[in-house]
Amino acid sequence: MSRRPFIVAIDGPAGAGKSSVSKLLARRLGFSLVDTGAIYRCVALMARREGVALEDDAGLEALLGRIQVTFKMVGEENRVFLMGEDVSGDIRLPENSMAASVVSRRPVVRQGLLELQRRLALEAESGAILEGRDIGTVVFPDADAKFFLEADPKTRARRRYEELFQKGTERPLQEVLEDQTRRDQADMEREVAPLKAAEDAVRVDSSALQLSEVVQRIEQVVRERMAARG
Ligand code: DC
Repeated sequence: MSRRPFIVAIDGPAGAGKSSVSKLLARRLGFSLVDTGAIYRCVALMARREGVALEDDAGLEALLGRIQVTFKMVGEENRVFLMGEDVSGDIRLPENSMAASVVSRRPVVRQGLLELQRRLALEAESGAILEGRDIGTVVFPDADAKFFLEADPKTRARRRYEELFQKGTERPLQEVLEDQTRRDQADMEREVAPLKAAEDAVRVDSSALQLSEVVQRIEQVVRERMAARG
């Protein structure tokens, strides 16, 4: 029987640095990368495009039966494809971020996406990094290495502000912070799979660390675990 790929779970709130860290780590380890937030964003985008209300469980369930999400590294970017269309830009627009937070609260959506998330990871050749909110607690409770990446709220909002700015969207920092607080609260307070660190996750606070330092710390733990697994 062939062995399951090595699974790395990286959870944490928006703006803690999960995407940048995961991308670099995936490249250094030669692992595939599954951005689960992008999958929730795709559900929201598809619902909005098809006129399915974000609280319409039956409509969402029908949509989940058809959804196809794939990832492809293009240069430095982990591009996201919904039904074959590159939606990497559209899924990150502010109105879609709020919609993603709303659909991610629906149990029907969380349940409907479990298999897709697991399949994308298990298709990997040697290993997969999954970044999200509930990877270490729900999607892969038996992941080989789990991390919970944190940073203080102001640092996270500033990072998001700069990321949006670089992509050509200028929004007042205060607005970015307010949106983030609303989303954090919704993510932590929802009944199904709320954002929380798995008990066996390694917690990393990135507030005062350079990106390369965070990557180094995580990579070291991953390599130790890989060596232990043999
Ligand atoms: O990481 P992100 O900002 O792209 O995530 C978009 C939304 O999806 C966010 O509101 C949290 C939600 N999400 C989730 O509930 N569970 C995950 N595993 C990943 C994201």
